[in-house]
Amino acid sequence: MLSFPRNFLWGAATAAQQVEGQNFNSDWAAWEQLPHKIKNNDSSRVACDWWNGAWRDDFERAQHLGLNAQRIGVEWARLEPRQGEWNAQAAAQYREMIAGLRARGMEPFVTLHHFTSPQWVAERGGFENADSASWLARFAERAAHEFGDLINFWITLNEPNVYAYQCYLNGVWLAQKKDLRAMLRVMKNEIRTHAAMYHAVKRVNAHAQVGYAHHWRVFEPRKSKASLDRLMAGLRNRVFNMAIFTAIQEGVLELPLGFNQTLPEARGTQDFLGVNYYYQEYTAFDLKNAAEVFARSVYDDDVKRLQNFFEGVGNLRPHALRDVLLRLAKYKKPIYITENGFVTTDRDDQTRYLVTHLTAVHQALQQGADVRGYFWWSLLDNFEWSEGYTPRFGLYHTDFETQARTLKQVGEVYEKIVRANGIDDELMEKYGRT
Ligand code: FCB
Repeated sequence: MLSFPRNFLWGAATAAQQVEGQNFNSDWAAWEQLPHKIKNNDSSRVACDWWNGAWRDDFERAQHLGLNAQRIGVEWARLEPRQGEWNAQAAAQYREMIAGLRARGMEPFVTLHHFTSPQWVAERGGFENADSASWLARFAERAAHEFGDLINFWITLNEPNVYAYQCYLNGVWLAQKKDLRAMLRVMKNEIRTHAAMYHAVKRVNAHAQVGYAHHWRVFEPRKSKASLDRLMAGLRNRVFNMAIFTAIQEGVLELPLGFNQTLPEARGTQDFLGVNYYYQEYTAFDLKNAAEVFARSVYDDDVKRLQNFFEGVGNLRPHALRDVLLRLAKYKKPIYITENGFVTTDRDDQTRYLVTHLTAVHQALQQGADVRGYFWWSLLDNFEWSEGYTPRFGLYHTDFETQARTLKQVGEVYEKIVRANGIDDELMEKYGRT
């Protein structure tokens, strides 16, 4: 039996736009109505119908799995639909939801910004506008006043690196730009925004634990001896993994964000390290791919065999998660895995992903990483951004026609692990091998 520490937090993660439905004031809601933005023309209009009350049964389901934590979002676009205008009704509903988690014995981890913003923010340039820091700080302060008595753990921004990349370099979400300078500008504003939100929550509640969810991706050179591949993997690591993290951890803007300029207000603005981890990928030098700074991702057959989510991206190399956690151990902060998951293409593969990645977490714990909790992405199948309803990450299957939920194999196995607070030999035997 691989046992986890006492009081380890076991949860699942969700985000407002992906589960609530009727989130009409967000920039995403407006954008997704344009033609061909979302696979199969899916829409987040209903999603998992939480805003109509379906959250109750889903929280009940989470409780039945034995979970003692849950990550949810509160939607800025609902709470502040117009600048300076606070929606008391929405706030009351969120209070009920957060209290509903507590009543069911689950520790709420609450995200303040998970990719979506009010339309009035988008109209003013979103994160390209330096004022985004003060807008979100005011929102965070207000949220801390409204909900702070119910919340110990706050997540300011979700995956600022993914957001900046998808919207400003890859050009596939929202602003849809392919502009490296815009991406770097946005990254700097995200850092300032996070710092301002951190201080805002702490001003209201000094004991709150505040962090952000950082997406870690492991970049390996496609050929370990090819120096240009190595250079590109290193560059991606610097820009995607390290730039924002270093600024928040050390208060320094390193290249390409700056020439070691200090940003004292950002330094140390995370009480815990939030880790979103999905996969490792190979990077190759590619002279033709100027848009992505002369690099491209390469996936091998091993990867295709597993048909990981989206187009065969990623792979089953759980040691990469262990290595990320061990790298983070040196910062001597509690670590929460705020997202980790895999879609169902083959249900055994999904279960194998869960078991092998938790084994990696266990190894990291034994080697000194202070991991205190784990959140599977996601509690139930939901609206997966521009991929619509196709990728199914949930512990529960969602039938989007009827809103029926069915527990999947991965959910059954997760329940077993959570209840035992560890992975027993039988599960290791069955699903513990890569
Ligand atoms: C993460 C996002 C989350 C979900 C998963 C699959 O990057 O934070 O909302 O889309 O990927």
